[in-house]
Amino acid sequence: MLDTTSLTPDLPRASEVFTGILTDTEMIFSVLLVLGVCLVPAHSKPAGEYLGSPLLQSCFREAKKIVDDAYKYSREESLKRVRKEVVSPHDALRLLKQPRGDTRSAVRSADYMAQTLRLLQERVHHVHKRSLNATDLLSDVDLQMLANITGCAARVRPPQCRTTPNLNKYRTITSVCNNLNNPRLGASNTPFTRWLPAQYDDGISQPTGFKNQKINNFLLPLVRQVSNNILNTTDAGVVSDPEYSLLVTFFGQWNDHDLSFTPFSPSIRSFSNGLNCDESCENSEPCIPIPIPPGDPRLPSNKDSCIPAFRSAPVCGTGYSAYNFGGDPNKREQINSLTAFLDLSQVYGSEEKLAQFLRDLNSDAGLLRVNTEFTDNGRELLPFNPLNANMCATRRRITNDTNAKEVPCFIAGDGRVDENTALTSLHTLFVREHNRLARQLKKLNPRWDGETLYQEARKIMGAYTQVFVFRDYLAHILGPDVMRTQLGRYPGYNPNIDPSIANVFATAAYRFAHLAIQPFIPRLDANNRENSQFPSVPLFKAFFTPWRVVYEGGIDPLIRGLINRPAKLNVQDHMMVDALREKLFMFVQHLALDLGSLNMQRSRDHGLPGYNAWRRFCGLSQPKNQEELARVLNNNVLARRLLQLYGTPDNIDIWLGGVAEPLVPGGRVGPLFACLIAGQFQRIRLGDRLWYENPGVFTPSQRAALSTATLSRIICDNTGITSVPRDPFNIVSNRNPLVFCNNIRSLNLSAWRE
Ligand code: HEM
Ligand SMILES: *[C@@H]1O[C@H](CO)[C@@H](O)[C@H](O)[C@H]1NC(C)=O
Ligand SMILES: *[C@@H]1O[C@H](CO)[C@@H](O)[C@H](O)[C@H]1NC(C)=O
Ligand SMILES: *[C@@H]1O[C@H](CO)[C@@H](O)[C@H](O)[C@H]1NC(C)=O
Ligand SMILES: *[C@@H]1O[C@H](CO)[C@@H](O)[C@H](O)[C@H]1NC(C)=O
Ligand SMILES: *[C@@H]1O[C@H](CO)[C@@H](O)[C@H](O)[C@H]1NC(C)=O
Repeated sequence: MLDTTSLTPDLPRASEVFTGILTDTEMIFSVLLVLGVCLVPAHSKPAGEYLGSPLLQSCFREAKKIVDDAYKYSREESLKRVRKEVVSPHDALRLLKQPRGDTRSAVRSADYMAQTLRLLQERVHHVHKRSLNATDLLSDVDLQMLANITGCAARVRPPQCRTTPNLNKYRTITSVCNNLNNPRLGASNTPFTRWLPAQYDDGISQPTGFKNQKINNFLLPLVRQVSNNILNTTDAGVVSDPEYSLLVTFFGQWNDHDLSFTPFSPSIRSFSNGLNCDESCENSEPCIPIPIPPGDPRLPSNKDSCIPAFRSAPVCGTGYSAYNFGGDPNKREQINSLTAFLDLSQVYGSEEKLAQFLRDLNSDAGLLRVNTEFTDNGRELLPFNPLNANMCATRRRITNDTNAKEVPCFIAGDGRVDENTALTSLHTLFVREHNRLARQLKKLNPRWDGETLYQEARKIMGAYTQVFVFRDYLAHILGPDVMRTQLGRYPGYNPNIDPSIANVFATAAYRFAHLAIQPFIPRLDANNRENSQFPSVPLFKAFFTPWRVVYEGGIDPLIRGLINRPAKLNVQDHMMVDALREKLFMFVQHLALDLGSLNMQRSRDHGLPGYNAWRRFCGLSQPKNQEELARVLNNNVLARRLLQLYGTPDNIDIWLGGVAEPLVPGGRVGPLFACLIAGQFQRIRLGDRLWYENPGVFTPSQRAALSTATLSRIICDNTGITSVPRDPFNIVSNRNPLVFCNNIRSLNLSAWRE
């Protein structure tokens, strides 16, 4: 066996599970440490001439060194700060968005590819004094070789499905081979799909509107300016939802973390000029700083001030040059690290190694690993993350108690488990339910081995999430009309439907609930009153705080808070709470982030077209002026303020335009996002060969039992909570009263007896 740690010097030593797995490339080229100089022979002719592999290989070696060094530097810088506990808010975001495991290999290959082509083009330009396409210089064989040595080819090679066991019974962890004709459809670490082509400044890769380039005759406003003018509200101005509980909001985040994770590049340093993104306000891949507008109420605005930010990593072979990887045009695309299917990958992981780690393989009982140091009054807690750099050591800083004990971050199937304590409580609840199911199944079928118990419990859990999302959750978001017309009865599996998550869904539409977040995380006692020992916490003091779950009463007070307190209502003059807009990831005094700015910056980073392009895509009217926009938004003042910033409705950032629309009846998004969200979920359902209603996946009696499963019962079965509303997404009221748990029907598992 190879000693993997010595081959991956830029990775933390803790465990390769959580960081990099070696690519073929790393194996091959770790021996080629001699730096080749990438220079074009002066006599070479430009277009059409075959340059041969030596040049390409030397460019590749140089690119590899640039990328590896940048990764190594970035990792050392980050670890230094985490160890010194001076993690800044943008460090926190970066650590949250770090690619790990196979995602890291995908990102690294893409960076090798992009940098090799950049060097090649630069060198050629230098020699020939004119700009050329890399494609003009490279033969097909060169390109194939480059794809091979960067590791990019391996990412698109079709996997073998024939050898996978139980293909018709259980999902693979990566969802590879869900679609048998096109095995990577919907799998983890594949590109987001596009419903409309990207609109980059240079047509290929440059973020929209960044080179002060006019779009539809107007410059795009600074995202932070838009945030200040349109999204601002005060905590006192927050309007509570009259019908829906805060569980609706956090179930949304929970559900999003089953579907999409867009990784950054691990580098914090520009590849082309070595600038540290933290120390410069220049736009230079992968830095995409957020400028601070003059007169900003919170942030210092001088010519050199900005909030550091980072681009999402590109997909192999997309973006930098005209290099064509099989499809054209070859615009920059982004990676989704997660499976597109509703399969609870946030519990089980989207990659084999992580999935194995999350299992308790000591017993043959099919259980998930749980915490071995702490329990929640005897109930299970999530296991700790074995990474030695601990960014969740926030307790001393937040409580100002220098003697307080810290705990590590938790680990789960999705890396964002610690982002806030409400989300952590849902992760904990579902891990407990898996283990409860596995134990019940073992009682029913004492002969089943650990693997069968794990897979059968996992399969039930996947069906739960499909039931809860389609039967319960989406109706609250999209309203009854859209549910009836677009997401009615299950029409059956269609292998021609691409279930992949759309870029616009992850980058804009499904971020709608950022405007439904209350400025505090409620914690209630057994009587559903404010918990006197551990009261509600301001949201900004609940980021990356697993210690609150360990030391402050476990998950029961949090779950009670979610079901007994209302969501925030998104209203047009009170959009985003300051906890997210002014205090995101604030740990004491550092420059906090602004989630509104990040959302808009991200849509420009991904080249998403503007508001009206998406309205057209959805068959909705396209307002051309203030009067028409005012009609669509049902709000004159807002239309005027938007046009003061954007000039034309065409240019309104898609996320902002979407969340500014009035809500559809019974739903919590406007017509544009209702269309985009419904379209995504319809594809996820149609394109899933293992959808729970697809005949043959479950037996008819299993399916009947599953269709009566409830989230309320899961709460009853796995917490100390004794009374719940039948519909935990609706506010507790006379129509939806609290009832004792023994009145809530249990899942009947007898259909699983073999
Ligand atoms: C306290 C609550 C929350 C916090 C602090 C939070 C924070 C964040 C942050 C920092 C990002 C990345 C921004 C970037 O592009 O740089 C993000 C992305 C996202 N958020 Fe939230 N969020 C919260 C709740 C929610 C909720 C309730 C939903 C939805 C229903 C949601 C949906 C999303 C989605 C879909 C993404 C994109 C994920 C990806 O593909 O990487 N978030 N959020
Ligand atoms: C790259 O090639 C395409 C097609 O061959 C051409 O249209 C384009 O102008 C070229 N770009 C540069 C920078 O030479
Ligand atoms: C690239 O790899 C594939 C599969 O290993 C191989 O068949 C092909 O010959 C390689 N191409 C080049 C140019 O190295
Ligand atoms: C939000 O900002 C606008 C423009 O600066 C200002 O007129 C408005 O009063 C602010 N609203 C709140 C709630 O701070
Ligand atoms: C923490 O405590 C020290 C000493 O009592 C005090 O000076 C400091 O202002 C406190 N910081 C915070 C954030 O409360
Ligand atoms: C559970 O389901 C089985 C059939 O699958 C049925 O015979 C039995 O009566 C059910 N039990 C309860 C308590 O509903």
